[in-house]
Amino acid sequence: MDTGDELQFEALIQGLLENDFGYCDDFINAKLLRGLRSKINQLYTAGEMHPAGLSNSQSHHVNEEIRGDLIKWLENESINEFEEGYLKKLKAFIAYLNRTCFTSIIDFECHYANYQQASFYKRHIDQFKTENSRKFSVVLYLNDTWLSTDGGMLSLYPINKNQIDISPLGGRLVFFKSNLIEHEVHPSSTKNRLSITGWLKS
Ligand code: OGA
Ligand code: MN
Repeated sequence: MDTGDELQFEALIQGLLENDFGYCDDFINAKLLRGLRSKINQLYTAGEMHPAGLSNSQSHHVNEEIRGDLIKWLENESINEFEEGYLKKLKAFIAYLNRTCFTSIIDFECHYANYQQASFYKRHIDQFKTENSRKFSVVLYLNDTWLSTDGGMLSLYPINKNQIDISPLGGRLVFFKSNLIEHEVHPSSTKNRLSITGWLKS
């Protein structure tokens, strides 16, 4: 494995051990970032992204007062070269995590997300009440340029610690415990806020 990858994995895991979350920049290279951004823009323009639901398959419903993003699930064995590039690295990270932290992640799921102008996702955790297979959340941002005036910050609320605000900069990956970290996506300004959100499952 690339030593650069290993350093990033270590930084993410160190964050997790100390704070229950971690993040790193440039998780994917500029070419992958451009490819994934054009793919999500293409899906959006083609009308292939749909309002995200709440809860799991047992009671799927859309509630725009809680979240307003449009999503599209990825195939875990994608043949799109850019998706494949990201998923390869995500799988390497899962293998590293399992090996060094004795986590037993056996599966994952990811979707593209587009928060159009003024969309948000109110404070929540990522684990369902009826199902606890989601262990870790991983969010990769696909934005081009993002200024603080563009809004759309991710706020994390670690237990007994100060709130952390993270800007959705392209190439940045945020990683946290799905059952523990409450978090919130603030409304974005005029730009679409683009990401791939994923969950590592056991
Ligand atoms: C989610 C979520 C965070 C983000 O999709 O559950 O909280 O920064 N996303 O997009
Ligand atoms: Mn979430």
